[in-house]
Amino acid sequence: SDDEGGGEDYLFKVVIIGDSAVGKSNLLSRYAGNEFNPHSKATIGVEFQTQSLEIDGKEVKAQIWDTAGQERFRAVTSAYYRGAVGALIVYDISRRTTFDSVGRWLDELKTHANTTMARMLVGNKCDLETIREVSVEEGKSLAEEQELFFMETSALDSTNVDKAFEIVIREIY
Ligand code: GTP
Ligand code: MG
Repeated sequence: SDDEGGGEDYLFKVVIIGDSAVGKSNLLSRYAGNEFNPHSKATIGVEFQTQSLEIDGKEVKAQIWDTAGQERFRAVTSAYYRGAVGALIVYDISRRTTFDSVGRWLDELKTHANTTMARMLVGNKCDLETIREVSVEEGKSLAEEQELFFMETSALDSTNVDKAFEIVIREIY
């Protein structure tokens, strides 16, 4: 804000989407507050947090929106996507059904959002290697086919979480 002496130079809206329990809310709390909740409840409606970072000497503020994966808890969809310039489409590497849903989430994104937005496919819970159901290669090839960035992350042990958000935010910038 202005009283901080100039304030942020850029404000970008980023949305997180994907099936319920893939770890959207924990990715956000890990990125914005370095927190992880092993017993987090399903999100109802919409929440957001902001995180600042510096790119090329400019303060960039990302306003990151998180909504419910469960249909019955979702708020008005068009409002959620309005003005978004980046998106993380998340699945859980230990549950194939969540990877099978990615196409549906991409369709929703195409319906409601700007076609030029920066998009990252995120395979979360990569700490669960022993019960993996989706290979890294499958994630990569879907991302290539759909022209998305790709990264596997773990909100639990922090692997690639900052990186995933920052690649999207830098791409927007
Ligand atoms: P909805 O709000 O219902 O859409 O779910 P969500 O996608 O926000 O999932 P949430 O972040 O609430 O996480 C669901 C469960 O997965 C919680 O028990 C988390 O602790 C757990 N979880 C989230 N991220 C990870 C991760 O990287 N690794 C492991 N092992 N568990 C995770
Ligand atoms: Mg949630």
